[in-house]
Amino acid sequence: MGEFRKLLSFVLPYKKFLIISIIVVLLSAILELSMPYIVKLTIDRYITPQVIKLNKIPEWKDKYPNAFYDNYVLIYELPNHLRIELEKLGYLSNERYFIISDSIENSIKFKNKFIISVENYKKLKNPINLRKDDIKGILFFGGLYLILLITDFILNYFQIIILTLLGQKSIYEIRTKLFEHLLKLPISFLQKQKVGRLVTRVANDVDAINEFYTSVLVSLIKDFVIIIGIISIMLLMNVKITLIILSIIPFLLIASALFRYFARKAYDNVRRILGELNAFLNESIVGISIIQAFNAQNYMKIKFFKINDDLFKAFLNLIYVFGIFMPLVSLGSSIAIAILIYNGGIDILKQGFTFGGLVAFINYIEMLFNPIRDLAEKYNTMQSAFIASKRIFLLLSEKGEDRGKGIILKEVKGHIEFRNVYFAYENENWVLKNFNLEVKPGQKVAIVGPTGSGKTTIMNLLLRFWDVQKGEILLDGVNIKDLDLKFLRSQFSLVLQDVFLFSGNIEDNVFLYRKNGKVENYFKYLNVENLMDLNKFVNERGTSFSSGQRQIISFIRALANNPKILLLDEATSNVDQETEYIIQKSLEKLLENRTAIIIAHRLSTIKSADKIVVLYYGEKIEEGKHEELINKKGFYYHLYTLQFENG
Ligand SMILES: Nc1ncnc2c1ncn2[C@@H]1O[C@H](COP(=O)(O)OP(=O)(O)OP(=O)(O)O)[C@@H](O)[C@H]1O
Ligand SMILES: [Mg+2]
Repeated sequence: MGEFRKLLSFVLPYKKFLIISIIVVLLSAILELSMPYIVKLTIDRYITPQVIKLNKIPEWKDKYPNAFYDNYVLIYELPNHLRIELEKLGYLSNERYFIISDSIENSIKFKNKFIISVENYKKLKNPINLRKDDIKGILFFGGLYLILLITDFILNYFQIIILTLLGQKSIYEIRTKLFEHLLKLPISFLQKQKVGRLVTRVANDVDAINEFYTSVLVSLIKDFVIIIGIISIMLLMNVKITLIILSIIPFLLIASALFRYFARKAYDNVRRILGELNAFLNESIVGISIIQAFNAQNYMKIKFFKINDDLFKAFLNLIYVFGIFMPLVSLGSSIAIAILIYNGGIDILKQGFTFGGLVAFINYIEMLFNPIRDLAEKYNTMQSAFIASKRIFLLLSEKGEDRGKGIILKEVKGHIEFRNVYFAYENENWVLKNFNLEVKPGQKVAIVGPTGSGKTTIMNLLLRFWDVQKGEILLDGVNIKDLDLKFLRSQFSLVLQDVFLFSGNIEDNVFLYRKNGKVENYFKYLNVENLMDLNKFVNERGTSFSSGQRQIISFIRALANNPKILLLDEATSNVDQETEYIIQKSLEKLLENRTAIIIAHRLSTIKSADKIVVLYYGEKIEEGKHEELINKKGFYYHLYTLQFENG
């Protein structure tokens, strides 16, 4: 039930809606419960014979003045137990009479109306004329029934609106909360997640909860009220038949417990495989160019067939479970009606039950079994809502990024220092080992080293995407963990190895909604305005631009941010000589008056650096200016000559 409380916690802010909706639902339940009873009254009072002759007037006459009159008794006003008692004592005769309004021959006076025996009634030429009062009564109850029907319709309509509002309002909140939380989560957590799964959480799981609010939560209350109401009414009408009918319920409860068990298993399976399918689809589409280029469609198809097949089987399993439950409940309700017709029929013959009562009972039995039948459907919805809310809460309970200790520096000079830094992404697989680096304000430091040596990692640490395990990183002498995270990041501009562009236009990609301005000016400033069409639409992940163009856009993004410190992870992508030259020139402009750490591949960048750091699998092996390192004839010299010979 903890899950249930969690689910409710989302709607608590909208208690008002919930309460209104419950009131509406209770009213509607009362209306619906009263309708079969109206049918019973109509039949008993106005359609079927109503008066039975008594052999003797029993002493209870004073107690039930409405039922007894002279030697006649009104069936529908005679309580059931009394009827049985009368029958046992032999007071009841089988003679039945109608009440009519006009005087006719062979009739007897009763309650200021004339009553006529059934036999004589059948002999009349135009009997309907004599039943004007009955027709009036039928019209009255018919009208009442119609009014109740319309009122119930209006109540239901309101309820749907209120519940939809409630559901939508709360999932709006959940969705916002989830997304806001997602944005705060540390990269170390997010990297371990399957994107498809996270997307599912924000989109589908939230929907499952909505479904629960709109189609289960309140209707469960209604079902409960209706079931209790029906059983009480049935008991009041006829204890014996009701008890016999209710004896079916335990079997149905056992069946539904079994159903719940198997449905849960089958459902879990379906959901798990569905998740797999989503993840696979997601990955296939993202990697479609590789699949096509390497003609790997068959391989992907085989993998897909397997998942698809599993999903098919899982759904079949689910249908088997559902397929047996629904007919079982229908069978139960049919058996109940059979019992009713048998027992009730006999009782009617014995005058212990009215025909109207029988009709009402049939109605009530159907109303009683409907909620039980729907239970399967509702159980399904509840199940997915429970699981969804569990997952959502799990995600919400995930700790957000450490926002630092809140120190904000008045003026940042741009002095960076790594002191004895040890860092590993996982366990103790050190990516940086006892790493030391100092970048003085305004200096341009280049980092070179083989692939996988930890260069990009240095950037990740500076921006606190990850935190060091040992040692410390200082900005202007303050440990970056003590600085306010937002403040820290605002000091840097990052140009990443893989440029990431959002779909939309260039302007939004440059400013990221933080400020307005004219992108053209920045492009002009770097003399690159002719390299691309600034009004072109940016596709998802920027595929509508070449990698050189994407790099320029990311330069402009960094430039527009006007940071103190620039972190540049140069892409190794080969661009033509001319573009290389243009990029180089714009880079120089970008670097003017800034502290910068550059992971460098371009010779010209390296040569002009104030300091070059050579990283070799997590360790700094050489450090110095270009000439110094060349003269040293060490690893840098080796790298340099290699590149020089080839390039
Ligand atoms: N998110 C991560 N989780 C686990 N290991 C990682 C992660 N990112 C990088 N690594 C590992 O850390 C090491 C250093 O990676 P890094 O990206 O810093 O290399 P690099 O020097 O930038 O290489 P390149 O020149 O190819 O860009 C590599 O061995 C890599 O496999
Ligand atoms: Mg890298």
